[in-house]
Formats: sequence, structure tokens, C-alpha cells
Amino acid sequence: MATVSMTVNGQAVSGDVEGRTLLVQFLRENLNLTGTHVGCDTSQCGACVVHVNGDSMKSCTMLALEAEGADVTTIEGLAKGGELHPMQQAFKDNHGLQCGFCTPGMVMSAIDLVAKNPNPDEATIREQLEGNICRCTGYHNIVKAVQQAAQGG
Ligand code: FES
Ligand code: FES
Repeated sequence: MATVSMTVNGQAVSGDVEGRTLLVQFLRENLNLTGTHVGCDTSQCGACVVHVNGDSMKSCTMLALEAEGADVTTIEGLAKGGELHPMQQAFKDNHGLQCGFCTPGMVMSAIDLVAKNPNPDEATIREQLEGNICRCTGYHNIVKAVQQAAQGG
């Protein structure tokens, strides 16, 4: 066991982990931040995406110890003062979710996408969200949501 420390959603946290503990396990099991989902064991689904030092990251592909000192944001850290983040609001407005299992990872990836490309066209959105799998929506409303958020809501 080793102790890992990082900032998660603006708060300093630490916990004891094994060398093999994944960041997603640390978030879910040590910190009880269960909004970050695990949808596969092959790094394909994107349900586990969080932001690490401002970049989207599949948290199942990173060891907790590798996040030592990092600034991590999860889906729980987006809403401020009871107000949804504009990307969350856009998903709601455009019915960009059905079962919601993929949604936290999809929203985290979409925020990073728009931060790096503020005016993405449909093809760009589809390409850049390729690492996030949704079994329900057919993606159409997700693309609309990202476009709405990119245009400022
Ligand atoms: S849980 Fe599927 S990519 Fe991380
Ligand atoms: S809303 Fe069900 S998997 Fe995307």
C-alpha cells in the first residue's frame, strides 16, 4: 500500500492504494465519487473519462499513483452553486442521453473537445467522441448538445 494525494474537484484528498489501483477505482471506491463509470475492461467505452490537469483522460487507463499531485475533475465537480455546467445543460436540453450510463464520460470528453476546438463541426464532434460509446442514443442528440454548448448554450 502507498499513500496518494491529489486535488479532486478543488479539494485536497489522499488515500491508501495498491500499486495496481486504477484512478477510476480510487475515485469510486476511496472517494465514493461514483459518477465516473466503468463500462468495459478494454479501455474502449469512455464511461470513465475525467479531466486530469485539464485534459480528458480515461481514468481506467491510469494508475491512481500516476495521478499523484494532479488536479482531477470528475462529473461531480462540474455543477456550481446548483447550476448545471453549460455542457450538462445542453445534454439535458437536447435529450442527449437515455439510460445515462455513458453520459458522465461523454460530458467530460465533450467539455475538453470544445475547450480545444470552440467551433467544432458535426464531423469533428463525431470523430473526437469516437472514444466514447453510447448504446442508446444513436449519437445524434449528443452531437446537437455539443454544438449547442459550443455556441454558448
Ligand atoms: S471503463 Fe471503459 S474506457 Fe474506461
Ligand atoms: S445514454 Fe445509454 S449508453 Fe449512452
